Amino acid sequence: MGPRFQRAIHQAIRIMMLGLMLIPEIGSAREVNPVALEAVRRLKGQDLSGNPALRTAVGRVVDQVRGEPAMVELIRDFDLRERTGDLLEFIQTKPGDEAATEAVRYLAKVDPESVLRLLGGASLEVAVVECVGRTGLPEWNPGLEALVGGKDQSESVRRVAMRGLLMSEAGAGRLVELMKGSRVTDGLRREGIAGLLKVRWPGVVDSARRLSPTGGEGARAGLPPKARLLEVQGDVARGHRVYRRPDLACLTCHVVGREGSDFGPNLTEIGAKLGRDALYDAIVEPSAGISFGFEAWLVDLADGEQVLGLIASETESEITVKTQGGHSTRYRKVDVLRREKQVQSIMPEGLHESLSVQDFADLLFYLGSLKPASP
Ligand code: HEC
Repeated sequence: MGPRFQRAIHQAIRIMMLGLMLIPEIGSAREVNPVALEAVRRLKGQDLSGNPALRTAVGRVVDQVRGEPAMVELIRDFDLRERTGDLLEFIQTKPGDEAATEAVRYLAKVDPESVLRLLGGASLEVAVVECVGRTGLPEWNPGLEALVGGKDQSESVRRVAMRGLLMSEAGAGRLVELMKGSRVTDGLRREGIAGLLKVRWPGVVDSARRLSPTGGEGARAGLPPKARLLEVQGDVARGHRVYRRPDLACLTCHVVGREGSDFGPNLTEIGAKLGRDALYDAIVEPSAGISFGFEAWLVDLADGEQVLGLIASETESEITVKTQGGHSTRYRKVDVLRREKQVQSIMPEGLHESLSVQDFADLLFYLGSLKPASP
């Protein structure tokens, strides 16, 4: 960058700053001033440390968008470490927001202890644990591990913490260790082993096999061949209950009507598209015919993080990756080292292995019954 160009930029910034400080409503009005917000966004990447006036101006705009996703963006982009308290508050009030996940990622870099304290606190909400776990960052493993093995938390909190551990190789490894002790209750233990058998790290799967008394075969040995299973009469209402079983996690990836998360294909009318035969195949061999647009991608980021998800959209400078649970995260392309399309579906293999013959038949009848309402 030539000196003349640099001077021009500094000039432009100074003019914008002046604007920021002169527009009277900044700092006084409670309402968000879109002009100020946009002006500040354009200063992204500026080092504020040597410029107290600019820092104050940015701080005012942050105050205006307090509690909004834009606040998280500004704190992260201007690296306003003194405002981690605002981020923690955001995570607790809007844990389902995409920006809450961003806040957790940023805190992993600047103040991981604060998030661990949050996880160790009383009256912890499931959604908060989910938000933290979703990032799959190794920083949270000790906190998640304590939750899984702890006695103070509800079963839902422990389950969600366990899913968080399953998001990273290191976390899954620690879950294996936890399972070796007797601190995990029976229901969760079965679910945890089932989860570990489906992760993408062969070493972890091997140790999980050794944990499971049946060598990971589960109920599979008990299932008859496909033709016989399809003859079994199922029940739609019972099938709905099977579908909602937390250990199968269908709801975390599929929407039926107004229930579930928007991640994999919407199943509201799946019975009109697939017969029971094809439904059987979709569950037993998810990778055999991956629906268009639902291919899995493994994305390697510059900071060592790895994300497995669907690429929901892409622009010239960013990609949006959608992960299980239906949450989308935007990444700057400059931070993406590599991305690789997976031959495996994100829908786990072997979900049927924990089903009895009757459960499986019921599930197929339920899915087969999902059709458009007749006019
Ligand atoms: C981790 C996320 C995940 C879970 C858990 C999951 N699925 Fe899926 N499912 C997907 C994705 C992604 C696809 C699309 C890719 C493919 O076809 O494999 C899919 C595809 C399907 C299809 C085929 C849809 C079509 O339009 O062809 C059916 C049926 C299905 N899933 C049913 C289920 C049922 C029933 C469960 C629970 C027992 C379940 N899924 C659990 C992610 C998931």
